[in-house]
Amino acid sequence: PEPRGTFNTDTHRSMALAEQAKRVAAEFDFGPDAVNRAVKEFIREMDEGLQKEGTELSQIPTYVTAVPNGTEKGLYMAVDLGGTNFRVCSIQLHGNTTFSLTQSKVAIPRELMVAKTSKELFSFLAKQIENFLKTHHEDHYAGHIRRRQTGETFKDEEIFNLGFTFSFPVNQIGINKGLLMRWTKGFDIAETVGQDVCALLQKEIDELHLPVRVAALVNDTVGTLMARSYTSPGKTGTLLGAIFGTGTNGAYVEKLDKVTKLTSKANEGAYDQSTGEMIVNTEWGSFDNSLRTLPVTPYDKELDEKSVNPGIQMFEKRVSGMFLGEILRLTILSLLKDPTFPLFRDENSATNDIHSTTQIHDDSPLYKQWGLDTSFLSICAGDHSPGHRVVRQTLDKDYGVSAVSTEDAEAVRAIAAAIGRRAARLSAVAIAAIVLNTGRLDASTSTGTATTEKKEGIDPPRGEGESSADDDDVIDIGVDGSLVEFYPNFEDYIREALREIEGIGEKGEKKIRIGIAKDGSGVGAALIALVAGRVGVDTD
Ligand code: GLC
Repeated sequence: PEPRGTFNTDTHRSMALAEQAKRVAAEFDFGPDAVNRAVKEFIREMDEGLQKEGTELSQIPTYVTAVPNGTEKGLYMAVDLGGTNFRVCSIQLHGNTTFSLTQSKVAIPRELMVAKTSKELFSFLAKQIENFLKTHHEDHYAGHIRRRQTGETFKDEEIFNLGFTFSFPVNQIGINKGLLMRWTKGFDIAETVGQDVCALLQKEIDELHLPVRVAALVNDTVGTLMARSYTSPGKTGTLLGAIFGTGTNGAYVEKLDKVTKLTSKANEGAYDQSTGEMIVNTEWGSFDNSLRTLPVTPYDKELDEKSVNPGIQMFEKRVSGMFLGEILRLTILSLLKDPTFPLFRDENSATNDIHSTTQIHDDSPLYKQWGLDTSFLSICAGDHSPGHRVVRQTLDKDYGVSAVSTEDAEAVRAIAAAIGRRAARLSAVAIAAIVLNTGRLDASTSTGTATTEKKEGIDPPRGEGESSADDDDVIDIGVDGSLVEFYPNFEDYIREALREIEGIGEKGEKKIRIGIAKDGSGVGAALIALVAGRVGVDTD
């Protein structure tokens, strides 16, 4: 912390403050032209990624060739290694678009994210699976203890098929086989890169003699897409599953013959080609790493330079929950250093009827990397209390800034909103590019010949607040993650940008239905484990 001067002529101060806040917020503008340029670049990178390896958008073929229709049934297990938590769940699919789910969740200890060996992380995961079985599936657990003593092996029907949601870029070489390409979201275990993460998990499961078979490897976006299709089957199926959480990414249904990097390889038979489609995991977190069209502020630069993976996941670093708080923190810090910007320097701040001087404590989390949580941006956006009381209280309680004035809270809110809005507008770029490039909009506006396949299943209950476009016309998108769930107006901002995009416009925007696929990754992984179980998987 640096010693700071103070401003005490109130009117002068608050005018200067509002003015400056506006200027700083404007640094995060991402206007209609910029949005349209980025959409074009996204489409270019999508096509390039379908043709060859090593591109910015990885466009990973998932070997999943069909989306469910709501009639699938059975008991499955799923685990989810996402970013912040590790979830273990069992899912009973009822076959009528509904399911019941039992789950447990633990925070991943920070030291395991940057462990020396893969074993440290994966043995921890297996241990959580064991705990889960013990607590929620006593019968399976008892069988496991008995067999451990007698040395008998499990019968096939006693084994849980498990879907492994592993939300990092993986070069998938089969339904339950995939090599880690790179870590993202703050994970950094060098040894794991290039390894088959399913084999790593299976090895630790086997060491504990658990009746569990890793049957499918799933990215969370693919799980979200599957779950959305299961719970909301429409005539045209769900096009895209997207995560806006700790990280951001999307997976969509692509025509198999466009995935030329796969179809040109002689690996027919490695997947079912009958649907003519395959789900592709875009890994859009790395869209435009070379910064042709992404906005760049000094705060974005600083965040990237100080990250564990400079130069990659450049889109994600502007969009997702792991980073938005940090962007705001760096912005606030740079303003505190700026002698002309009077933030947090009120000598006469009238909060709670007591006039006092705003103070930032020396150990304020604002001075620490990742110290400002993205939930603070949601708090800012959602605070309509008089004088932004909630924001001021949060700054005091959680961030060590006491006696914040209303004007200061207002300035922080303006900047936070600009960062959130930019993130949502960038999200719209990804969504629009996929809608446009898959031709879904043309199909739905024409006579509908391209989308007439009727799925069986029960018509889904629509979630509250979902747009009610006619089913024939609708382009369905399933989303999950803390930003879409908790950031007020995230979807509104996305829609505002969608309307500005050439080829989408007001008409197209109305056809896009965005719905939350809660617990998508768990249910989705179960669904893929089911499909994998059907076709018989390679488990050695
Ligand atoms: C990161 C991961 C990606 C995942 C996304 C959302 O971008 O690389 O695989 O889908 O986060 O969790």
